[in-house]
Amino acid sequence: MAGLKAYTLSIFAILSLTNSCVMASSRSQAVRGAYWPSWAFDTFPPSAIETSLFTHIYYAFLIPNNVTYKFDITNSTALMLVNFTSTLHSSNPPLKTLFSIGGANDGRELFSRMSSNSSSRKVFIDSTIEVARNFGFDGIDLDWEFPQTQDEMDNFGLLLHEWRAEVKKEAEATRRAPLLLSAATYFAVDFFIDKVYRSYPVGSVSENLDWINAMCYDYRGSWDTSATGAQAALYDPKSNVSTSYGLRSWIKAGFPRKKLIMGLPLYGRSWELKDPMAHGVGAPAVGLGPGELGVMTYSEVEKFNRETNATVVYDSATISTYSVAGTSWIGYDDIRSTTVKILYAQALGLRGYFFWAVHGDHEWKISKAVDDVDMMQLSSHGFFETRLGTSAMLCMSPCIASTSSQGQAFTNELVWIIQLCLYYL
Ligand SMILES: *[C@@H]1O[C@H](CO)[C@@H](O)[C@H](O)[C@H]1NC(C)=O
Ligand SMILES: *[C@@H]1O[C@H](CO)[C@@H](O)[C@H](O)[C@H]1NC(C)=O
Ligand SMILES: *[C@@H]1O[C@H](CO)[C@@H](O)[C@H](O)[C@H]1NC(C)=O
Ligand SMILES: *[C@@H]1O[C@H](CO)[C@@H](O)[C@H](O)[C@H]1NC(C)=O
Ligand SMILES: *[C@@H]1O[C@H](CO)[C@@H](O)[C@H](O)[C@H]1NC(C)=O
Ligand SMILES: *[C@@H]1O[C@H](CO)[C@@H](O)[C@H](O)[C@H]1NC(C)=O
Repeated sequence: MAGLKAYTLSIFAILSLTNSCVMASSRSQAVRGAYWPSWAFDTFPPSAIETSLFTHIYYAFLIPNNVTYKFDITNSTALMLVNFTSTLHSSNPPLKTLFSIGGANDGRELFSRMSSNSSSRKVFIDSTIEVARNFGFDGIDLDWEFPQTQDEMDNFGLLLHEWRAEVKKEAEATRRAPLLLSAATYFAVDFFIDKVYRSYPVGSVSENLDWINAMCYDYRGSWDTSATGAQAALYDPKSNVSTSYGLRSWIKAGFPRKKLIMGLPLYGRSWELKDPMAHGVGAPAVGLGPGELGVMTYSEVEKFNRETNATVVYDSATISTYSVAGTSWIGYDDIRSTTVKILYAQALGLRGYFFWAVHGDHEWKISKAVDDVDMMQLSSHGFFETRLGTSAMLCMSPCIASTSSQGQAFTNELVWIIQLCLYYL
């Protein structure tokens, strides 16, 4: 490690001399997204979003009629949609807006039926384009959680193919910019731990979507109360259920890095410890901790930390954070673990990141910190598309750190990142 540290510092010196930290340019291609939950309208309206920190905001969620597959937009929803797009378009620079269809709790069975039949696919697709244009959206996002069989995966691929064709046709006919098309997906390219193995149709997904939002979270939670867990671990020493494994599985399957967006949670998941003295990641638990179903937003975790004088621990094995107070244990990402993840995404040459969900960090602590770590100026230069990933990372990491608001505080993480790159890229 001492050797690595010295190497980092010497490269840092070289970079300072050559002034190759061109942080200002090429931000345009990066995607810095976040989902906005429409059910939070009263407490967190679109006007509460700190627009300078994002490029794309997703309206969560709309769901089509269960029988007709068309969207029946009520008057009150129409008001919210218009409020959403007009508020976010009036910011300077204007943000791009997409509406997201489905979500964790809705649509699985509907999507399965709709996508299996070409006439219902057509009805659905036409209705999505109509909603997007009527309410001023720049794009459409499909959040189907998740296709359950390989047949459903194949239908998902067909749907995307026909969707792209219609979007292209509509843009040509109306001489407008084509609508963006994206999808929220499983963290990995295949469901390798489920009873029913299935895999995303990578060809169709990469050809027809502008990008995917890989949901790199919910690895552990209320469904298993026997042990604590890092719900969004970058690494897991004991299993492949981790962000690094998931993102790399997409890349290995031939999915383009420029269409891959890393999901970041602005919430944590909690457990009740069996023994307050045994509180690591994976420690024995007996139930759920604070928060509804053991879920707390990042802002709520911060409040919890203040009110309980919780001990906050950074877990370098998983790259995650947890708080412990008595028998209450919460696993989440804070500024530090999120920043390391962003550096990792840069090393992989990804297109950007997104948050679920924007209201979870209402003081913008995490969002501001990661905004300082610029994404695209690295990958837009094509460094990481070559197999020079490791050496490029070695060169660029100090550049990122030196311009981040935290400055030298990230030296330890840089050493970590370099180590991780050497082992895993
Ligand atoms: C949608 O329709 C299917 C059958 O067509 C039915 O099984 C399901 O319960 C319906 N879902 C909702 C939310 O109405
Ligand atoms: C919804 O709005 C339309 C047009 O403004 C109006 O004609 C209709 O009566 C409204 N419906 C309801 C249920 O308020
Ligand atoms: C959106 O709704 C908020 C809250 O009701 C309101 O203050 C704001 O003026 C609306 N903005 C637009 C552009 O409709
Ligand atoms: C396909 O969908 C159309 C329109 O929803 C319906 O009329 C038709 O019966 C469906 N076909 C099959 C085989 O389910
Ligand atoms: C993780 O996946 C790799 C193949 O992708 C496999 O060789 C390895 O055994 C897996 N590890 C675990 C702990 O399941
Ligand atoms: C937290 O620490 C402060 C200062 O040490 C103390 O005044 C307060 O009572 C503590 N609160 C709890 C819940 O332990």
